[in-house]
Amino acid sequence: MEKILVVDDDQSIRNTLSNYLKRQGFEIFSAENGKLALEIVKKKSPDLIITDVRMPEMDGIDLLKNVKEIDNHTQVIIISAFDDMQSTISAMQNGAYDYIEKPLEIDKLKIRINRALENKRLSDHLESLIPSNYKEYKIENTLIGKTPGMKKVYKLIGQVSSSRVTTLIQGESGTGKELVAKSIHYCGITKDNPFIAVNCTALTESLLESELFGHVKGAFTGSVRDKKGKFELAGKGTIFLDEISEISPNLQVKLLRVLQEREFERVGGESLLPMRARIIAATNKKLSELVSEGKFREDLYYRLRVVSIDIPPLRERIEDIPILVQHFLAKINTELHKNVNKVPEEVMEILKNYNWVGNVRDLENTLMQAVVLSTDDVITKENILLRKNETELESSVSFLNLSLEEMEKLHIESVLNSLNWDKQKAHKILGISLPTLYSKIEKYNIRSEK
Ligand SMILES: Nc1ncnc2c1ncn2[C@@H]1O[C@H](COP(=O)(O)OP(=O)(O)OP(=O)(O)O)[C@@H](O)[C@H]1O
Ligand SMILES: [Mg+2]
Repeated sequence: MEKILVVDDDQSIRNTLSNYLKRQGFEIFSAENGKLALEIVKKKSPDLIITDVRMPEMDGIDLLKNVKEIDNHTQVIIISAFDDMQSTISAMQNGAYDYIEKPLEIDKLKIRINRALENKRLSDHLESLIPSNYKEYKIENTLIGKTPGMKKVYKLIGQVSSSRVTTLIQGESGTGKELVAKSIHYCGITKDNPFIAVNCTALTESLLESELFGHVKGAFTGSVRDKKGKFELAGKGTIFLDEISEISPNLQVKLLRVLQEREFERVGGESLLPMRARIIAATNKKLSELVSEGKFREDLYYRLRVVSIDIPPLRERIEDIPILVQHFLAKINTELHKNVNKVPEEVMEILKNYNWVGNVRDLENTLMQAVVLSTDDVITKENILLRKNETELESSVSFLNLSLEEMEKLHIESVLNSLNWDKQKAHKILGISLPTLYSKIEKYNIRSEK
């Protein structure tokens, strides 16, 4: 049964309306002001609210705003007096579905209620068609950039996403290859199916093979039961093969076969399984060079790059830097509950002139540090900690004879010292959890300078 909430400070209107709607077969709640209505909204989630504008405690417009924040799908019809143009406009701007004028005419009301409920059913239905991770994807993963190089990327994403064509994404580290792969997946025909990323460097050859193709029980020591591989799990979705340049010659042959035959076998298995997923591969090395050096199979290279998307490095699209800065500051401020939003011209110039070897990721991390370090709402020159270029590095300390652990110790120490040992800030900059930071301080016996 659909639920309607009637809100009016005039008891006679409330009663007439409620009784009428009950007879129409709706479940009815009523309240005499916005504040009480909001309580009911939270508990009962009505499909439709019919509310007066002028009421004590909380008026209809404020109720509307609050309701839309709780659940944007809840429909609201405003009852407005003739002279109340302003509040009607404001109501529509705040997302009211419709308004009806006083005195209420039952026939008109009936039509509008039905339309509003129809709208609610439609938007609920649309919601159910959108995969649950879509929203998350949208907020977190929007590609920013207006330069011609990026527009070309968007155009290719659009074209590729309407089919399951194999795609190769090339770009330096941190240019957004994974983000582009996700955009292809979530913008097109694959969006209701899984997106499965596999990092080809993270596993040994045999583990990677069974990860991709799956294995049957007893295929090797420890394989006590059948296991599905990523190709199977991805169904009609997308397999994202990150750092494809790193796969072994042996696996290159196997992958080539999958791409040619669109079939594969589990490790140790005998039956052929169909491959329905689309493959997107990414690399930050130039595959064509690896091909000419004989390190990557030419036939596989051509099978992978049916469509090839090249993401330009950040230093070749410095016009995008200001909007990226704006985007990341908004994101970082929300994350850290700060409000650092001013970037003086001279600071922007520094950001534009840096060569960003680590590309967009590097820019994001630099801004993260700057926000953490800033004490008011401005990013100062001093808070921009850019990695020195290689020649400067060489002339300072030589890190070349340090072990990874010694490097880690030095780095943690200098971050802590630069932050006056504020561990809350330090763990965020270092990209590790607070407990991990504590355990590393213990492990390396790092002590404050003072
Ligand atoms: N155009 C962009 N707009 C907004 N954010 C971006 C853009 N490009 C990259 N990023 C952000 O930069 C970071 C790095 O992106 P991503 O992981 O996709 O890069 P990558 O090319 O896969 O890097 P790597 O080669 O190191 O794996 C992510 O946090 C991503 O959200
Ligand atoms: Mg990546």
